[in-house]
Amino acid sequence: MTVEVKNILITGGAGFIGSNLCHYLTKQNFNILCLDNFDDFYSEEIKLNNIKSLINEKSFELIRGDIRDSKLLKTIFENNKIETVIHLAAKAGVRNSILNPTDYFDINVNGTLTLLEAMKSNGVKNLVFASSSSVYGNKNGKLKETETCNEQISPYAVSKKTAKLLNYSYHVNFKMNVINLRLFSVYGKNQRPDLVIHKFFNQISQNKPIEIYGNGETKRDYTYIDNVVEAIYNSVLYIETQTQSVYEIINIGNDNPIPLIELLDCIKEAIQTDKIEFVKKKIEKGDVETTHADIEKAKKLLNYNPSVSLNEGIKLFYDWFKIENL
Ligand SMILES: NC(=O)c1ccc[n+]([C@@H]2O[C@H](COP(=O)([O-])OP(=O)(O)OC[C@H]3O[C@@H](n4cnc5c(N)ncnc54)[C@H](O)[C@@H]3O)[C@@H](O)[C@H]2O)c1
Repeated sequence: MTVEVKNILITGGAGFIGSNLCHYLTKQNFNILCLDNFDDFYSEEIKLNNIKSLINEKSFELIRGDIRDSKLLKTIFENNKIETVIHLAAKAGVRNSILNPTDYFDINVNGTLTLLEAMKSNGVKNLVFASSSSVYGNKNGKLKETETCNEQISPYAVSKKTAKLLNYSYHVNFKMNVINLRLFSVYGKNQRPDLVIHKFFNQISQNKPIEIYGNGETKRDYTYIDNVVEAIYNSVLYIETQTQSVYEIINIGNDNPIPLIELLDCIKEAIQTDKIEFVKKKIEKGDVETTHADIEKAKKLLNYNPSVSLNEGIKLFYDWFKIENL
């Protein structure tokens, strides 16, 4: 029996989450088209390194380009029978979005609109979109997808919410199948250098005190990359198996918010030290106090199981970090 190999377009596929996903999906009978413009939020070298072992794979193609380039999207969709788009390309970074909001709207909102238009024109129906826990704003407690989300703190979060609204309108008007995944503090191999954990390990390896914002009481629902990749894969399969048109918002977190100070304990354990030097800094604009995902919906619809504990995940991260940096 021949197994049908399907084509998936991953936007932002050379980045942190995208590269992990490209590695995983090329092993799952998919042909991957990875569209990335290597934007300057962090270095091109890091992103090329993320995907270098895939470049010669038959099931992988890198397309350098921008999601805002409608001609390019038209060519991609015309030349490849694409079933599903996994849309990860974005200007990321909550804090930076307060300094440069225009870029965030141009890429995250106009870019998403350009992509949706191209999908519509070419009859591409399935979309898995990377939204963010930041759309909940500054709310306490465990957050369900049904929570109202009208008070985002950063322009980044507003751009993610706006993109989600566009996705909804394409679902209603053009029967597009959409899953918006609200991702909570993803970490692991290839993690962005601006994110906590990678940033801390960089500072420690350079014998610098790590910078802590606030008193170490802010909490994050850290989610290991492999669990996020599985959730994205299961979203693709979920859409394929439904008979009705799909529109869902699903939290992908860990249901276990960890105070920053406890994160440091995990890091100490991983690098086997008793002490980490740190300096305290003022909490930055755009940051929320706590993130906490209710993951019942993900468990039910996607068989989601965040199996990697923070202790394990930090050790795995450190194994990767040592190979890349030490
Ligand atoms: N990392 C997290 O914890 C987290 C949490 C919530 C949501 N997200 C979302 O997940 C997605 C991936 O995040 P990440 O952490 O891997 O970020 P990343 O910056 O590593 O990846 C984004 C990729 O998109 C590419 N890109 C940016 N603008 C583009 C454009 N105009 N055209 C084509 N490519 C473009 C970048 O070059 C980069 O490779 C983003 O949409 C982000 O908002 C991430």
